[in-house]
Amino acid sequence: MTNTQTVQFPADTLERVHKIIKRYPEGKQKSALLPILHLAQAEWRWLSSEVMDYVAGLLNIKPIEVYEVATFYTMFHLEPVGEHVIEYCRTGPCCLMGGGEVYDHLKKKLGVDTGGTSADGKFTVKEVECLAACGWGPVFQIREKYYMNLTTEKVDAIIEDLSK
Ligand code: FES
Repeated sequence: MTNTQTVQFPADTLERVHKIIKRYPEGKQKSALLPILHLAQAEWRWLSSEVMDYVAGLLNIKPIEVYEVATFYTMFHLEPVGEHVIEYCRTGPCCLMGGGEVYDHLKKKLGVDTGGTSADGKFTVKEVECLAACGWGPVFQIREKYYMNLTTEKVDAIIEDLSK
């Protein structure tokens, strides 16, 4: 993606975008930003400046208003990512349950540091704050799915399964 000419939701997604915008009163279309950013990320996997500018245009707001939101939430990817984004919880309770060892194993297995993408482009590993599953740590999330009570053996099985 090199310029705004190439950024365009497919017709069916654009229809969804307009339905979402209509949920809000005239002049409050910015309220639709989060769900539209989710649709954009589902479409392009990550939010380039071209994509964020496109979203700003759809909502008739300034690009900076999109950047402010997209850079606040770790769930939005601002750089290219792999097919599966593994977001592991680095917060205290998960670390107390052995998160450090499990996450180190994960990164070593994939040959990446935090924020990196595996050489085959399949996995990106990100560090996030509490995923609200503290009683089942260590935890990581891949899209909407949580993987809990993680051990090095479980990590091996998950990566093997997702690598197929
Ligand atoms: Fe890890 Fe809350 S501390 S999910």
